[in-house]
Formats: sequence, structure tokens, C-alpha cells
Amino acid sequence: MNKKYIIAFDQGTTSTRAIIFDNQGEICGISQKELTQHYPKSGWVEHDPEEIFIHQQEVFEEVLEKTNISFQDISSVGITNQRETTVVWDKNTGKPIYNAIVWLDKRTTKICENLKSRGLSDYVSKNTGLVIDSYFSGTKLKWILDNVEGAKEKALNGDLLFGTIDTWLIWKFTNGVKHVTDHSNASRTMMYNIIELDWDAKLLEALEVPESILPTVQYSSSDFGTINYKGHDIPIYGVAGDQQASLFGQGGYKSGIAKNTYGTGCFMLLNTGKKPYESKNGLLTTLCCSLPEDNIKYALEGSVFVGGASVQWLRDKLQVINNAADTEAICKSTKSSEDLYVVPAFAGLGAPHWDMEAKGAIYGLTLDSGKNEIIKATIEALAYQTRDVLEAMVEDSGKQMKELKVDGGASANNYLMQFQSDILKVSVDRPKMLEVTAMGAAFLAGIKAGVWTKKDIAKIRAVDTIFKPQITEHERNRKYTGWQQAVARTKTVNK
Ligand code: G3P
Repeated sequence: MNKKYIIAFDQGTTSTRAIIFDNQGEICGISQKELTQHYPKSGWVEHDPEEIFIHQQEVFEEVLEKTNISFQDISSVGITNQRETTVVWDKNTGKPIYNAIVWLDKRTTKICENLKSRGLSDYVSKNTGLVIDSYFSGTKLKWILDNVEGAKEKALNGDLLFGTIDTWLIWKFTNGVKHVTDHSNASRTMMYNIIELDWDAKLLEALEVPESILPTVQYSSSDFGTINYKGHDIPIYGVAGDQQASLFGQGGYKSGIAKNTYGTGCFMLLNTGKKPYESKNGLLTTLCCSLPEDNIKYALEGSVFVGGASVQWLRDKLQVINNAADTEAICKSTKSSEDLYVVPAFAGLGAPHWDMEAKGAIYGLTLDSGKNEIIKATIEALAYQTRDVLEAMVEDSGKQMKELKVDGGASANNYLMQFQSDILKVSVDRPKMLEVTAMGAAFLAGIKAGVWTKKDIAKIRAVDTIFKPQITEHERNRKYTGWQQAVARTKTVNK
């Protein structure tokens, strides 16, 4: 049987994975490695780009071995990645000049304040769809050029290259032949003009970034070069930022479809079609995965910085659970503590609040509150933060949402999904296969390779459970009002 396999590289914030799909969209095998997190100072988060590349190679080889699939049967590779994380390397030596500065890193808060004071907020919002925040790559790149000795001169001499993680991996896998990215990743840099579809000269000047350092931007489903593996060339045909990839994998290439991914953060995206919406409620406008045969499509995005990361905090810092999966049983068996709220502003607050200085807080502790109550309130915070974003999305788009598609690790938690549906008063549709981000990247590659068409995506997606709201309006309002009060007390801006 002439099976055609597609392999997806999913390089996320905490892990690096390789997943092989067959042409029915079934998973044949997964290999995964944890990624070391470096916290050199309070608020700083870094990754080692060399470790990322080595891990990606290792999981690639491991999954081939594990599944006994020959690389000759792999038709193409799709890459999906943590977005915004910034790498700068010397193109002559191939070595990064500094660690990758991760999207969660807050060191460029002052650079952002300076850009705001120069009156750039409106320009950034209209032309990049973003808000000025340390989240995005632009100020991280500026920080590296300003702070690494000799970097500015080297950049001006054309010796340095910038990339998000997709660009870095492609450059390494193609032995320096390709310095490229796709529309979805470019739209997260705060340097890319999402209306003109080009690097934005005014912002490059404001950030003092020479254009020669930036990659060429391509359609997400196009030819990104080849990986030479044991003398055999495997083309990279799909590239997308992880959140746009999961929207695509959920069938969100059509307008009106919304998804929420519960990963390190929580990211809700709504495909709004050919016209960009300018958010009035703290959301971002971003580019969807792009295909050469389609119009460019935009999405409204609500980026919540801390989602699954708060479950890691319970496990690694508070050490009150052994595994993330334990939380479901704990939540189900713990009585709701009416007024206990955990606001996990561990990396400031993202959408719709945009407060870089906010810090995490717990409200409503009594002598009755134990570790289980805190665990439950931490899980519920994922759902409350998602409601903050959904409210903004309904306001901006003028459309009531009836259904939300979900994916990502924490979407396996039945308690959380039911609570999510209750708090949103919206049906929550969870698919059988939760590796939707990787599937999205595989689809992009498979479409270019001729294995699938866009229509196959909806056929392949199978529903696991639809959670329907079960609590009363009164109960929903009471709980959510308590959350809003807790957030208001946590915020350092617009109090
Ligand atoms: O914007 C950051 C996002 O891409 C990170 O995704 O899956 O690593 O939480 P994830």
C-alpha cells in the first residue's frame, strides 16, 4: 500500500515534538522532549536555540525509528512553533549570539513604554494589529542588538539574521540555505505590516532594526526548502505559528469559526475573513495561515499568557500535585469555595487587560482554604480568563458566539471543559484528537504535497464531547462578578 505520511514538528514553549500522521489524519507515532527553561532574572525567560534544534532532530529520528516508517515514505514536513520567541544568530558561524528571548519575557517593558511615549500606539495597532507590549518580537530583537556587544555593527554589516523559532529551525535544517518565515509568524513580530503584507519601514526605524536581518515572508503552505536526511530530500511544505495552526486544524480557515487552545497560555482565535477588524476591546488582529490559492484572512485573537503554565506552577513550585491530570479528580471532589480566586498574572496580564506590571494574586483565603481549594481556583482561572477574552470578541465582532472549539493539553480535563461551558454559556466542542496544532501544520504541508485538500480537514475532524452549559444565570453572574473584582484588584493600570 502506497501510504503517504506527513510529519509535523511542534516546537512549543515547554516541549519539542515530532508527530507522524498518515493520509487519513491518524497519528502513527509521537516523540517528545522537554525543553529547559532559563530564568536568568525575575521576569526574564530564555531558551537555548541549539537545544531546540538538537531536540527537534532527536525527536524526528526517534519517531521514525519508533514507528518503523521509512523517511522515503514521508511526503513532507510541517513546522509549527511557539510564536514571538526571538533568536539572533551569526550567519557566518551559524551560532546564536544570545539565548532565545521567550514570548513570556518581560525585560523590554521600558522599551515599550518609550515607544508608547513617542505616540506609536495607534500606528502599531492599525498596521500590525498588535498592542505595544513586550510579548512581541520587535522589542526583544532591539534588546539583543542594543545589549550584546558588537551586535549593532554586525547587524549593519549584514552578518546577523533574526528569526522566530520556525525561521531558526528552517535555517538549521536547510543548512543555511533558507532564511524564511510565513505570514502567521511574521504577524507576531510587531514589525510586519498586516495590511500591506510587508515589513514596516516606520517601525523598523523606530526599533533601529536593519531590514537585511529579517527573513523573507511566504505563504504558510508553500516551499520552505528541504531537509536532507540520509541523502534523501524531504520538503518543508507547511509553516505556521502554533495558534494559527490549531485554528486551521480545527477547520478555522473559514470565517466565523473560533477556537481556544489550552497550552502554556490560552489563545482564542476567531477567523474574521478577508477584512481586518480593529479591536476596540483589547484583542489583537493577526494573520491566519495563508494559502497561495486563497485570499489573505485575518483573525481576532485573545492571548492569555498563563493557562497550563499555572498547572505547572502547582506541580513544580507549590508541589501540591504530581501530574497535571490529577487536577480533574481534585476539582470534582472539592466543594466550590465560593469566593476563592487565583489570578495567575505570573507574566503580567495579556488580553484584554494588557498590564505588563501585574503580578499573580490569590483572593478570598479563609482558614477553610486548603491546597485543594487553591488547585480548583487555579483551574477555574483558565475558564474565567477565557471568558474575559470571549466578552471582548463578542463586543468587537458584534456576533454572539454559540460554540467554541477547544484543544491543547488542559482541554482533556472534563471538569475544566464543563466549567468553561458553564461560565461562557456557550457549547464547548472537544475533538477526539487533541493534537490539533500539529495536525494544522501537517494539513498545510499535506495540501501543498497534494495529499489533502482543505475540504478534507472537516472530514477528518471527529467530535469527542460537546459540553453544554448547566448552571443558572444567577450562579454564572455571581461567580464571574467575583472574578472581575479579583482582576480589578490585581491590575496596575486603568484601575
Ligand atoms: O504566542 C505564544 C504561543 O504561540 C505559545 O504557545 O502552545 O507554547 O503555549 P504554547
